[in-house]
Amino acid sequence: MDTRRFGSTGLTVPAVGLGTWRTFDVRGAAAVADAREVVEQALLAGSRLFDSSPMYGEAQRVLSEALKSRRADALVATKVWASSAREGHQQLDRAMRLFNGVVDIYQVHNLVNWREHLAMLEAERDAGRVRVIGATHYSSSAFGELATVMKTGRVGAIQVPYNPRQREVERTILPLAADLGLGVIVMRPFGEGSLLRRPPAQSDLEPLRAFGVTTWAQALIKWILSDPRCHVTIPATSKPARAVENATAGDPPWLGPAERDYIGKLFA
Ligand SMILES: NC(=O)c1ccc[n+]([C@@H]2O[C@H](COP(=O)([O-])OP(=O)(O)OC[C@H]3O[C@@H](n4cnc5c(N)ncnc54)[C@H](OP(=O)(O)O)[C@@H]3O)[C@@H](O)[C@H]2O)c1
Repeated sequence: MDTRRFGSTGLTVPAVGLGTWRTFDVRGAAAVADAREVVEQALLAGSRLFDSSPMYGEAQRVLSEALKSRRADALVATKVWASSAREGHQQLDRAMRLFNGVVDIYQVHNLVNWREHLAMLEAERDAGRVRVIGATHYSSSAFGELATVMKTGRVGAIQVPYNPRQREVERTILPLAADLGLGVIVMRPFGEGSLLRRPPAQSDLEPLRAFGVTTWAQALIKWILSDPRCHVTIPATSKPARAVENATAGDPPWLGPAERDYIGKLFA
């Protein structure tokens, strides 16, 4: 697993982490055991960054249970997603209980109420309970506001969508992040799974074999990580074997412009 400097935050992140939206929003012993196995395989494969949010139902709790004594081996990224400062503090207290008193990357989810939440997160960072503060948004319609937040100098990281079908971040967000030295987490590498529904034929992947690509999911992950402005992508999966398949795409060699174009054209 390639590891990358997470901008100028001082953190080093694996190129492939794990998302938890939907996949970890589960209840019951069997489902939690499955999630634990996904986490176990992800950790073994070097995917030690886990992203969650209070917006994802049970996901934070399930991640915490799956990590248990492995908490120190992991980088936990979570979020505050609250319209009031009071609710934001409640979410923070809960996350601190779940993740042993430290959150490595604490993000403002979808920029909701960001001014108030940044003040709370800055106090937590100064107290040593938060290592990096971030901001996220899934929609290009919010990238203007995201750029404003980035320029305040108050965040060390961003989380944005980027894949061959969703390239809006190339225009201003990725260049700005690189200029400011921000860490970049790429969400939705598979477009919430939609990019994997009709994969190209196995023979179409042949030209990518020399890059270690054997599946369409790996081709998409490599496409993202071959842009050096992206530090870690966080595919979500409920299946342990897929956590390993996805992690494998975090190994070099990286693609050049010709191979990235080729992957883009496989959608046509
Ligand atoms: N801040 C925000 O606004 C925001 C918004 C969206 C997402 N996120 C974060 O980004 C993470 C990733 O995005 P996402 O969950 O929306 O979507 P995604 O990672 O693009 O796609 C997830 C889907 O892909 C499938 N999948 C994963 N690996 C696969 C493989 N190797 N082969 C075939 N199918 C595979 C999974 O199904 P199986 O379970 O069946 O494998 C799942 O349905 C989220 O979990 C969350 O942590 C943040």
